Amino acid sequence: MSGVLAGRRVLISAGPTYEDIDPVRFLGNRSSGKMGFALAAAAVGRGASVVLVAGPTALVTPGRVRRIDVRSAAQMREAVLSALPADIYLGAAAVADYTPRVTAGEKIKKSGEGMVLELVPTADILAEVAAHPQRPGLVVGFAAETGNLEHYARGKLEAKRLDMIAANLVGVPGSGFESDHNALSVYWQDGQRQLGPTAKTRLAGELLDLVAERLS
Ligand code: PMT
Repeated sequence: MSGVLAGRRVLISAGPTYEDIDPVRFLGNRSSGKMGFALAAAAVGRGASVVLVAGPTALVTPGRVRRIDVRSAAQMREAVLSALPADIYLGAAAVADYTPRVTAGEKIKKSGEGMVLELVPTADILAEVAAHPQRPGLVVGFAAETGNLEHYARGKLEAKRLDMIAANLVGVPGSGFESDHNALSVYWQDGQRQLGPTAKTRLAGELLDLVAERLS
């Protein structure tokens, strides 16, 4: 296979995670998986071999992609770390930051009273990949923000020891979650680039071309 990523192994996380409260209810988020699946298709198109770790989504697997389906943040962590080594990690999934301390075995019954749900932090998969003995050559995070894109994205770039971070606005129509379109402000230590706004399918290719450029 030829292309700017020929011979490269690309590991991608996509979609939401669901944190179960009981057999009926869960904590989730609005990620559709479209951004991560578009990255998987674009990476295959550039010659890479691709492993896609996907949270719950009904999206169709792009051709020639090895897909691993997971539900929770803990399962996503296990699948991502087990899929190493890779040359590139792209963390496009919207991973839950918190999960219920206990998952009830039976449906929690309505009592008429208020209810307090105790949450505990999940492991940060992206930071673990970046600190892993089999660290990919390029670790790329995403940042979903409702404002101050550069400030928060650069904070995550440094705190999680990433090579690059792609920040997008969420909570606005036509960008971020669920939409077929998006715009990315991409930051690395001594540079930045603006990609889009455009279709996620096209944006994914532009991000991968930048990734290939940075890798070489
Ligand atoms: O799926 P779509 O509907 O197409 O929407 C795309 C998207 C908005 C979900 C995507 O472009 C995006 O921004 N993904 C990252 C969402 C997110 O969780 O951002 P964050 O700023 O909370 O997290 C920062 C980074 O840490 C992300 O790369 C995330 O995958 C990673 N993370 C976060 C928490 C955690 N426990 N483990 C992680 O690896």
